[in-house]
Amino acid sequence: MKFVDLQSQFAAYESEIRKEMEDVLQGAQFIMGPKGNALEGRLAAYTGAAHAIGCSSGTDALLLALMAQGVGAGDEIVTTPFTFVATAEAVALLGAAPVFVDIDPATYNIRADRIEEAFTKKTRGIIAVGLYGQCPEMEAILTLAGEYGLFVIEDGAQSFGAERNGRRSCGWPHMGATSFFPSKPFGCYGDGGMVFTSDDGLADRVRGLRNHGQWERYMHRAIGINGRLDDLQAAVLLGKFPRFPDELVTRAYMGARYSDRLGDVVSVPAVAPGNTHVFAQYTIRTPARDDLVAHLRDNGIPTAVHYPIPLHLQEAFRGLGYGRGDFPESEAAAREVVSLPMSAFLSEADQDEVIRKVRLFFAG
Ligand SMILES: Cc1ncc(COP(=O)(O)O)c(C=O)c1O
Repeated sequence: MKFVDLQSQFAAYESEIRKEMEDVLQGAQFIMGPKGNALEGRLAAYTGAAHAIGCSSGTDALLLALMAQGVGAGDEIVTTPFTFVATAEAVALLGAAPVFVDIDPATYNIRADRIEEAFTKKTRGIIAVGLYGQCPEMEAILTLAGEYGLFVIEDGAQSFGAERNGRRSCGWPHMGATSFFPSKPFGCYGDGGMVFTSDDGLADRVRGLRNHGQWERYMHRAIGINGRLDDLQAAVLLGKFPRFPDELVTRAYMGARYSDRLGDVVSVPAVAPGNTHVFAQYTIRTPARDDLVAHLRDNGIPTAVHYPIPLHLQEAFRGLGYGRGDFPESEAAAREVVSLPMSAFLSEADQDEVIRKVRLFFAG
């Protein structure tokens, strides 16, 4: 059994994906060509953002969004310690400091009502992550940011496709960033990402910064990066896009099916009011996590822990001065969560097998 079944997805969409890729091979415009432009148009319309700017990864999407906001040394960016490292890494790469706020244990997303306490004179913005596949409390976060004149970047690497009160992830005011890493709900066949914004000035800055700080060829007005999206990756995504909405329906169904059959033995994902969940990860929680992981491994069921060490306890962030006990909800989640196989191509028979093996562990 696969944790994420990309082979079955390829088998189902092979002709569409090959056709899109063949166009790129024939046209030989591999960087910033027509497929990238087409994808940007398609995903801007999908999210509701005025602009979508393809880039080389989700990490670079975050970095470019922060660069476009002019973030640099001495700035502080408030975010969650319970996320993939890239969220805070992008901040630190620019010489700024991530400032952490603990999570809501029900959704694993940042506690919006605790963000204000973390503000100092150096605070410039907030990165709100839609962990596992549902949006954080964006309305409250945007209101708070508005009161303090701060920017908000939604890290939608896991929540792309999710809706909250009728808005799509990455389509909120300010900026959104997502990842097309292969195992994401909307993934390409390598690295890729995208920045979203409805602010014309920010979009223009991201476009130049992703291409070595040039808005005109060989005129470098700013220090940028090589952060562009390959057309072959855009082609893969264009080949998959027409089926993405159906995949989300299937993912929601499979997520609900897991929850229905496991909710009495483990803590299952809570979908916040107004939210849809794309289950980039279907993540359960139990104090017996480590023994459950070993039992599932012995029974041939792949699992993954997202994430075993919160960022404030990572060696790379030791310089921030945090210690054990600073973010108890994140630390407890890191000890207790485990993600189960999930994709739109997970069969009900395989899912039943996972469910049986999880239940067997608790029965024994
Ligand atoms: C929450 C979050 N942020 C950022 C990233 C970085 O994306 P990428 O791997 O495309 O650089 C990921 C995914 O890996 C992620 O899960």
